[in-house]
Amino acid sequence: MSGPREASAGERAHMALALRLAAEGRGRTSPNPMVGAVVFDGERVLGEGFHPRAGEPHAEVFALRAAGERARGASMAVTLEPCCHTGRTGPCTDAVIAAGIRRVVVAAVDPNPLVAGEGLRRLEAAGVEVVSGVMAAEAERLNEAFNRWIVSRRPFVTLKLATSLDGRIAARTGSSRWITGPAARARVHALRAASDGVLVGVGTALADDPQLTARDVPGLWDPPARLVVDSQLRLPATARLLDATLPGPVIVATAVPPGDPRGHALAAAGAELLHVPGDDGRVDLEGLLVALGARADKPITSLLVEGGGVLAGALVARGLVDALILHKAPFLLGADGVAAVGPLGLDAPGDAPRLVVAAVERLGDDVEIVAHRAAGAASREV
Ligand SMILES: NC(=O)c1ccc[n+]([C@@H]2O[C@H](COP(=O)([O-])OP(=O)(O)OC[C@H]3O[C@@H](n4cnc5c(N)ncnc54)[C@H](OP(=O)(O)O)[C@@H]3O)[C@@H](O)[C@H]2O)c1
Repeated sequence: MSGPREASAGERAHMALALRLAAEGRGRTSPNPMVGAVVFDGERVLGEGFHPRAGEPHAEVFALRAAGERARGASMAVTLEPCCHTGRTGPCTDAVIAAGIRRVVVAAVDPNPLVAGEGLRRLEAAGVEVVSGVMAAEAERLNEAFNRWIVSRRPFVTLKLATSLDGRIAARTGSSRWITGPAARARVHALRAASDGVLVGVGTALADDPQLTARDVPGLWDPPARLVVDSQLRLPATARLLDATLPGPVIVATAVPPGDPRGHALAAAGAELLHVPGDDGRVDLEGLLVALGARADKPITSLLVEGGGVLAGALVARGLVDALILHKAPFLLGADGVAAVGPLGLDAPGDAPRLVVAAVERLGDDVEIVAHRAAGAASREV
């Protein structure tokens, strides 16, 4: 018996549209994935949809609603396997079957253990022709945070650093304003808007007094939580981060026990104190990721770490960085500048954790390098 015919060029074009639709939900769907769907008949698009926010209908439902009766006998391109479980909304497989869709073209299989191929099997069992893996790499990259969180319950960690060409994040005085130009800084605000949380070390919070908010980013997105790792609660309650008019909760991860008077002023200023002590008296970074991924009200599925060098080194050394975004500015700061990544204790280049460069882009005078943990690398390697 022959399987379903492979996706045609036209169906791939519909999938490309579905991927663009999915990205409309960027910064709003967490802890759900971004998903887009297109109902079509040949070249003709009959309905489009995307998942706008957790708790709202899934992409398939919007696309089916838009297509109406025309969905009967038509096809659907959807960026993620339709769900087959009842969460806050009913199973999408039922909606697709009830609408009379004849053929479904899927990009990525849903890694959610509650789905994991079962959605495809349900469709097939109902006589729907199913093809999966169409533009799967693009779909998986789009939902890298969800894919990581849904199986490990830890956030996907992106380390972002702005450096000179010789890899320094600040001059010898600690001054880092500004290393990169406006285009790179605008990109950082977009990255913040797309993340559930933005984290810095207390060294950076004290040196730069950042707000860590996403500013001047078009569209709709949920303000990210703003986080500091601060073992001894050195962050003053007067830090700009704690300005009550700024959007997004502030979380200070600390080794100081709950109830300690050192935390009173920060708590009074609106910070949520998270007690995650490590063996070395500092914040336990692994414990922090577990705690963030398990937050009951709103889990943090994607974490953007914006330095500084000490925190970056600690994360890299523990194999906790999933992706690296380097913004390189065309000047040198010399060996007396601040190193981008703290000591790693490596004896030879061959011992260094490997990354794969995914993209290189010019941003004004600067260059952005996006790199990911090498495929198959153990999670303790970068
Ligand atoms: N160009 C850039 O992209 C960029 C970005 C950020 C910062 N910077 C610059 O970098 C400098 C600050 O960086 P930094 O390296 O001094 O400080 P940092 O990395 O921002 O903060 C390091 C501090 O975090 C705290 N921490 C808590 N738990 C930790 C853990 N498990 N592992 C490691 N650290 C932990 C430690 O202080 P406690 O032990 O007291 O908790 C540690 O000293 C400034 O000059 C800033 O301007 C540049």
